[in-house]
Amino acid sequence: MNDFEPKILAFVCNWCTYLGADLAGTSRLKYAPNVRIINIPCTGRLNPLFVLKAFERGADGVIISGCHPADCHYTSGSSIARRRWIVFRRLLDVLGIQGRVHFFWVSAAEGRKWADITDEVTQSIKRLGPFTAFPALENAWAASRRLARP
Ligand code: FES
Repeated sequence: MNDFEPKILAFVCNWCTYLGADLAGTSRLKYAPNVRIINIPCTGRLNPLFVLKAFERGADGVIISGCHPADCHYTSGSSIARRRWIVFRRLLDVLGIQGRVHFFWVSAAEGRKWADITDEVTQSIKRLGPFTAFPALENAWAASRRLARP
């Protein structure tokens, strides 16, 4: 398991975390190369189904990160995302996806914080191991849909 390199997908807001990640790169900070970034306009735009889709497509972990609440470019998007996250986290627990989705606020000036988060989440997902439960979850959902049909 020591040579396991997790695939981590990061949904980051265009206005803060994306620039923070860029700052980490231009500052030549060293951090784990396991994270692939998807740039979104605002964390308030993130549909929770995007996160489930990431696991379906083979991600071992997901990071969601955007502006600090008072800095959201769209005023309330970050706060909406935080409220949505509180509910969504419970759903993830029910689905057995605990500890694989992490939510942060990283500003454009926090390149060091982004590098640290990347390292910490990578280590955390390494300890959990590869995420292999999605096919079983998918089969259970398909079976429940078949049972629900009249
Ligand atoms: Fe960054 Fe809303 S614009 S979280």
